[in-house]
Amino acid sequence: MNNTFYITTPIYYVNDVPHIGHAYTTVAADVLARFARLRGQQVFFLTGLDEHGQKVQQAAHKAGIDPQLYCDRLAPQFENLWKRLNISNDDFVRTTQPRHTIVVQKTLQALYDKGEIYQADYTGWYCTADERFWTEKDVQDGLCPDCKRPVERLSEKNYFFRMSAYQDWLKRYIADHPDFIRPPSRRNEVLGFLKQPLEDLSISRPKSRLSWGIELPFDPNYVAYVWFDALVNYISVPGYLTNEPQFQTWWPADFHLIGKDILTTHSVYWSTMLASLGLAPPKTIFAHGWWTVEGEKMSKSRGNVVDPNAMIDQFGADAFRYFLLREVPFGQDGDFSDDAMVTRINSDLANGLGNLLSRTLTMIERYCDGTIPACGPSVHPVQETLIRQHAETLFTEVGNALATPEFHHGLQLCSSLMTLCDHYIETSTPWALAKQPDGKDKIATVLYHCSQALRHLSYVLYAFMPDTAADMARQLGLSWDFSQPVQPKWDDDTFPGTRIAKGRPLFPRIEGSTRSSNAAQTAIATKLNKGDLRVTDQHVPTPPSALSSATATPTPVAPQPSAPSVAAPITIDDFLKIQLKTATVLSAERVPNSEKLIKLQVDLGNEKRQIVAGIGKKYEPDALMGKRIIIVANLQPRKLMGIESQGMVLAAGEANVEGLITVLEDVAPGMKVK
Ligand code: MSP
Repeated sequence: MNNTFYITTPIYYVNDVPHIGHAYTTVAADVLARFARLRGQQVFFLTGLDEHGQKVQQAAHKAGIDPQLYCDRLAPQFENLWKRLNISNDDFVRTTQPRHTIVVQKTLQALYDKGEIYQADYTGWYCTADERFWTEKDVQDGLCPDCKRPVERLSEKNYFFRMSAYQDWLKRYIADHPDFIRPPSRRNEVLGFLKQPLEDLSISRPKSRLSWGIELPFDPNYVAYVWFDALVNYISVPGYLTNEPQFQTWWPADFHLIGKDILTTHSVYWSTMLASLGLAPPKTIFAHGWWTVEGEKMSKSRGNVVDPNAMIDQFGADAFRYFLLREVPFGQDGDFSDDAMVTRINSDLANGLGNLLSRTLTMIERYCDGTIPACGPSVHPVQETLIRQHAETLFTEVGNALATPEFHHGLQLCSSLMTLCDHYIETSTPWALAKQPDGKDKIATVLYHCSQALRHLSYVLYAFMPDTAADMARQLGLSWDFSQPVQPKWDDDTFPGTRIAKGRPLFPRIEGSTRSSNAAQTAIATKLNKGDLRVTDQHVPTPPSALSSATATPTPVAPQPSAPSVAAPITIDDFLKIQLKTATVLSAERVPNSEKLIKLQVDLGNEKRQIVAGIGKKYEPDALMGKRIIIVANLQPRKLMGIESQGMVLAAGEANVEGLITVLEDVAPGMKVK
């Protein structure tokens, strides 16, 4: 693996205070930077501000102050937010800094000298808000195709960059480098864009129209187009044309993280600019999705802009960081709401991580004199092996998820380990073991495994939630210095014997959440009666059907009529009332005194369920461990032989279960099945 890692965020316009969109990319970049440092890589993480151009000039004008003063007043808002969000950037560029402006001018001069920049007349449709010209075919009804604001006809002499000359090269480059533009949908979007002839790019603005910019070195009547200026930050800061040895260390960048709206400027303008300078393109440009707020586009006029500072005040920096990256797969659009945030914090952080740490440490205090115990005799070999394997591979697996990057999947892997531990505690019942003569040694085994898992989790989670991870490490009695990271080893025999220092809960539960995971109560009986889904259990004989479901849960609502052999048709709305989800089997055990019933604990990504299924004649419990199954997730819970079943497992079969239903791909647990 390359020992250096250079990652960038867009540089943000200083025309207003930061919002959730700015925080999103910056937190994502921070996680990748921190993870690379944990891996031992030398990291350069760059973020900053885009201070020139029309947007900033207009905002300053509105405020009635000089643009530079305006930027100077607003810049600390970004810098302070990054401090509060624990952003570990190595540099912070402002495009008005001489170290940047000098390189922009040198770059312009170099391209001008090479004949890559020329002067010409240009007439076109200009969008002031986007600061760009559009061609005739782009503009419909006199509106900018991007921001939908009116465009104006403008004719002026400008300087142009010969971008069109690089069209074929760029197409080939994208085709040959599948990782260059990601995710694949965005890559296809750019390839689609490149099917049209690429025009040359106007890279100047006459000072008469816009004075707030970097002066062209070869014509004092013009300033550089703000995008030409801004994109150069990715090379000016690491030392292009000013500190070549240092520049060679970092370039090409490993990741440019951007939002989907600035994909063209990065993948087309920037890549061709680099090509004309004889520089390699960045290794990956990743365009993430956009956040809406409670289903609506975020905007000042709607008054629904999410202020990251308010989120930190209300929920804490780590919880906000976690939410941003766990809630929505990176690359897709997501919806923000306070409710979603509270639900996520309560389920994953308070009930999940915080509770596991707290119960483990409480038991270590109670049963092991406040010291991490050494491993004793095995209590449940399969679960112990699973926990150990999961913990030992966690760093590598999360690293693989971050290579793409799939933050939500990395965090799901962490949650699965917590779920394994919770289940292990519940099934091994240390409190009951405490009453047995040899119980103390077995309790030691349970708490040894859980504290090992937590130790490994703390290391990995440092990238996502640095304060929380440091707190976890401290409470586990570890004197870790995350700035000099050393990956934990399971066999490290200095861990047992460590004195713990149990502290306050990591994430107190937030009361007043409006959501309930089991809330949906639907008319599933209708479907059952119509013969589309069948319930197999020890009481009700199963009639034949196209899609059979096997579970111990008998007909949940209505009495089961003698089923018709041909199912009556149902509407799609009827079908959509059934919530089907993927789930991973965490544990399975036979229900005492039943030949048929197996009690499963399953993981749904953000929650755990217990399901009693009538599959015991077909399967041995151990064969089910780790299997990916499909469940009906919104079935009213009910008791079978006194045990609550919170869902139904789907299986094929008629009178007998022939096989469980699964999915072809390795999809995450909790995914909707439709
Ligand atoms: N200054 C340019 C970038 C120059 S990079 C050489 C710019 N700045 S911006 O401040 O307008 O936007 C910065 C980033 O915020 C973009 O990546 C954009 O996608 C992101 N977001 C703005 N609103 C957003 C959401 N509602 N959701 C997620 N990100 C969004 O463009």
